[in-house]
Amino acid sequence: MKEKILVTGGTGYIGSHTVVELQNAGYEVIIIDNLSNSSADVVDNIEQVSGIRPAFEKLDCLDQEGLAAVFAKYGDIKAVIHFAASKAVGESVEKPLLYYRNNLVSLINILELMPRYNVKGIVFSSSCTVYGQPDQLPVTEEAPIKKAESPYGNTKQINEEIIRDTVASGSPISAILLRYFNPIGAHPTALLGELPNGVPQNLVPYITQTAIGIREKLSVFGDDYDTPDGSCIRDFINVVDLAKAHVVAIKRVLEDKQKEKVEVFNIGTGRGLSVLELIHAFEQSTGVKLNYQIVGRRSGDIEKVWANPELANKELGWKAETSIEDTLRSAWNWQLKLRERGIQ
Ligand code: WQD
Repeated sequence: MKEKILVTGGTGYIGSHTVVELQNAGYEVIIIDNLSNSSADVVDNIEQVSGIRPAFEKLDCLDQEGLAAVFAKYGDIKAVIHFAASKAVGESVEKPLLYYRNNLVSLINILELMPRYNVKGIVFSSSCTVYGQPDQLPVTEEAPIKKAESPYGNTKQINEEIIRDTVASGSPISAILLRYFNPIGAHPTALLGELPNGVPQNLVPYITQTAIGIREKLSVFGDDYDTPDGSCIRDFINVVDLAKAHVVAIKRVLEDKQKEKVEVFNIGTGRGLSVLELIHAFEQSTGVKLNYQIVGRRSGDIEKVWANPELANKELGWKAETSIEDTLRSAWNWQLKLRERGIQ
């Protein structure tokens, strides 16, 4: 009998890739998603990629009764991976209350229900955003949590505290917090990828939309930072490598391998790359010339951040493996496939 895993936000970018890797690892997946930032077609695409159609419940995690009904319907859900959240940094500054309600109450609902349905543990989608601008690089899990630069980043920090306090209060659940760096790329089949609503906020989808002609040119937000080429530095991690980290974390929870009831891991490559280096890597990997222009800084941007992933490498036995060139090619192939399918 396959162990059942509930994946909230499972039709989203990282969620959908994680569902496929869970299925490949032999788990049965139930997806909850309100489709506010994704489409139900993703369920079909997941089935095309893995050959297994996951159960799908269109539901908002703010609806606690609806959530309880899903736990009851599927009976023995063993663990939860919680992706469902609003995640646009800029939008969170304009609509803080929407972000606090959605990102905090959704998690609270999940945490309250888990013990009632004997769910063992939760793997939580956190972010390197919690570090702000680290004092030391590469950044380790011991680095101090700094004042968040945005309500979005603050919700990630508060969510981590909510989980810690819940476990400390005697809740029987355990938790693994995965702090992602910058997820990029798409599935090698080009059937899953990042499909932002409207104008992309993140760098790589903006690059591929510029390369295919949807956007006229890419604005590079600043080249006057204290970095070798003046542009910001990030730790860009392949989305399939990131998805695989969730499978390892779930296994660790279910097999009681955790050393503490709440564990935190940086999920990054350990390598910093600047925005300009990424642009040149894209041009080299795809042979497509990119039209870009240096403009002023974007407020709230961190200057430079990349992971020290040694704890995840050692404790989880997980390591990012995909090259930046293959990752950028996968992003470009995804964009071409979207065009072929008449989606973008
Ligand atoms: C990366 C770099 C920009 C767009 C955020 C969240 C993080 C995660 C990923 C959700 C920055 C530059 C970008 C553009 C540019 N979100 N850039 N032109 O801000 O590092 O991280 O998204 O999980 O939690 O904080 O990602 O891709 O927006 O920006 O020059 O059109 O690219 O200035 O230096 P970011 P990003």
